[in-house]
Amino acid sequence: MVYLTRRVTFSAAHRLWSRYLTEEENYAVYDKCANPNGHGHNYTLEVTVQGEPDPKTGMVMNLTDMKRITNEQVVNWVDHKHLNHDVPWLEGVVPTAEMLAIKFWERLARGFPTGLLYEVKLHETENNSVVYRG
Ligand code: NI
Repeated sequence: MVYLTRRVTFSAAHRLWSRYLTEEENYAVYDKCANPNGHGHNYTLEVTVQGEPDPKTGMVMNLTDMKRITNEQVVNWVDHKHLNHDVPWLEGVVPTAEMLAIKFWERLARGFPTGLLYEVKLHETENNSVVYRG
């Protein structure tokens, strides 16, 4: 089995705030990440597919297709957007890195050929990242 990863970057704003917590609890949990007007991150998304290289092409998947599907399903929706307000499929989701990784996986799984998607890794900062494997 071979694992092929494509990396893409995007910038987005978010506010960490849960509808299930009181105002006081929200500030206790999320601290400055709960500031009303939000804040931005330069995210890095790594999408990994798995498979045997095709004997004719030598590829698990064409990187051009990986780029196109990742842009169509995720990046074009979130780049330079406010994740709490601008993305219909994130409505009601607290946009932590964990939740974004899950939602990105769900989007990507719709776009990639069945069984190829292996892992979504989302870096929120240089120090924080999340891995989701469906
Ligand atoms: Ni943040």
